[in-house]
Amino acid sequence: MRNFISVQNVPDIVALLNKAIHIKQNPSEYSVIGKGKTIGLLFMNPSLRTRMSTQRAAYNLGMNVMTVNLDKDSWQLEFGDGAVMNGSTSEHIKEAAGVISQYCDIVGLRSFPGLIDREKDYNEEIFNAFLANLSVPLISLESATLHPLQSFADMITIKEHHRSEQRPKVVLTWAPHIKPLPQAVSNSFAEWSIASGAELVIAHPKGYELDEKFTKGASLITHNQSEALQDADFVYVKNWSSYTDYGAMPEVKENWLLNKSKMELTKQAKIMHCLPVRRNVELSDELIDDPSVSLIQQQAGNRVIAAQTILTEILKEL
Ligand code: CP
Repeated sequence: MRNFISVQNVPDIVALLNKAIHIKQNPSEYSVIGKGKTIGLLFMNPSLRTRMSTQRAAYNLGMNVMTVNLDKDSWQLEFGDGAVMNGSTSEHIKEAAGVISQYCDIVGLRSFPGLIDREKDYNEEIFNAFLANLSVPLISLESATLHPLQSFADMITIKEHHRSEQRPKVVLTWAPHIKPLPQAVSNSFAEWSIASGAELVIAHPKGYELDEKFTKGASLITHNQSEALQDADFVYVKNWSSYTDYGAMPEVKENWLLNKSKMELTKQAKIMHCLPVRRNVELSDELIDDPSVSLIQQQAGNRVIAAQTILTEILKEL
């Protein structure tokens, strides 16, 4: 593996999931594969889990880590070809990426969407500019449209907790929020669930349809949350803003907050959320705080395993 931007970079998802489980059971097996190598973690937006889990994964493999908050600690980057840089931007991606490539053997990048210009966000202009100008592998720490390390950790968590021989029924259900959020986690969860063979059902209010590019292959997409929850094994709760009326929050009159009584429709399903979660807005306390239902901490723990697995795949080809 050279770059890790989406599930499309994974040649064999079953083999990758098996490798992750093996690494979890044998955490020291690759403890020197990264000796003498450096990863640079570049953040254009805040992070708790991605930052700490990727750092921890790199340390577990013997790597050095440099973390830069590009939005605060560095020069403001220019991405435009032929730009006359007489405004607020101080350094062009062409120089910056060349410099970073001399200091790092692998780069991780987080860059959220602006949620204003859909074409710009969905063309992944920031990620593609880094890809075009870096001479070392690039790992997504969440892009404008995808969050593959989160989704890989989610798939590991489902594999660990699914108790039947049949494929799991996984429901991705929209949740309320107070501000517009990206579609990245939901897009990514949909494409990883479908690629890993789960029965995926997506439930959301009218106006919150996701890009079909990522949901093609879902068993059902419905506006009826109760219909979706029927016999579910896993319920993934996530807010996202509108893709069609890009970045907007169309009014929702029904109550989409998940609680214990709605969960009675499921097959004693487990609750999942990528975090951070706004309690009693997105998800009720009674579900978050019930360890017999919630897999939220397990997902966060598996972020280390996901990052460690991807780093070994890239390091073995350096
Ligand atoms: N789930 C996740 O990516 O968390 P952070 O934004 O804290 O990294």
